[in-house]
Amino acid sequence: VADVVIPAHHDDVDVVAHRGASRYAPENTLPAIEMAIAMGAEQVEIDVSLSADQQIILLHDNTLSRTTNVEEVFAGDPRVVADDSVPQLFTAAELATLEASNWGRFAVGSTSDDGRYAGAYLGTHVPTLAEALALFEDHPDVGLLIELKAPALSPGIEQILIDQLLAERAKGFTNPHVVQSFHPDSMELYAHLQVAAGLDLPVGQLHFVSANLGDAFRAQSTYADGFNPSHGSLSAAAVAEAHQAGLTVTPYTINDSARQAELVAIGVDGVITDRIDRLQCVLRGE
Ligand code: G3P
Ligand code: CA
Repeated sequence: VADVVIPAHHDDVDVVAHRGASRYAPENTLPAIEMAIAMGAEQVEIDVSLSADQQIILLHDNTLSRTTNVEEVFAGDPRVVADDSVPQLFTAAELATLEASNWGRFAVGSTSDDGRYAGAYLGTHVPTLAEALALFEDHPDVGLLIELKAPALSPGIEQILIDQLLAERAKGFTNPHVVQSFHPDSMELYAHLQVAAGLDLPVGQLHFVSANLGDAFRAQSTYADGFNPSHGSLSAAAVAEAHQAGLTVTPYTINDSARQAELVAIGVDGVITDRIDRLQCVLRGE
């Protein structure tokens, strides 16, 4: 990338695969996670919510309509509301019956990208966190960035996640993992509960904005280890201020190489991206 000087520490910038390798496989599915690992991501970001039977499942939206065929599979079911069926009313086993890849560039018949991805992942379901974690078994160095998507709609998810992570760790799961959310109350609660449970995972506080975060840094550094802001107007001064407060900075979601390079140049600790490949080129100075 021309005209951007990348500082010597760029090897330390984490490549974070947003919703898995979501440019190349349907977001928050097992193939997207497998692809992110295969492409060499250092961390894989996923979004999680609770199912009706209190299982942690992967889904970005608050409803199932954009990415699944819930209206077709559960036609006539009173839990199905046009464009507004919520995952919390379905069990994990029911969610596993939903097709999660027949949309966007992955839809059967899509002409995006010359139809290259059309139907490529058919048969992919809404996975549980347990299924996702199993994919990391042979890749102990790859980290997870677990986003509690809408904790108010999944009450108790903080403790359920802690219990599940503790159980996985007891079985030998050692991958680095960070928990994050846009919701400070949930993150503060999570931080408190994990200490009580004997866990000490880094906590990330997401922000929709990237300017004037000084007050938030001060207030939220009591429980957060990292700030993960929208990259929009993120400045070198803000990154330095966060670092001074002992916080890492990992902005989202940057797919443009030039902007990725700018963020690396101002000292961010990681970049959340759909375009792992572009970020890897930037970090290699290509
Ligand atoms: O990891 C941060 C990023 O994923 C937040 O935005 O909407 O993609 O979950 P969103
Ligand atoms: Ca997310």
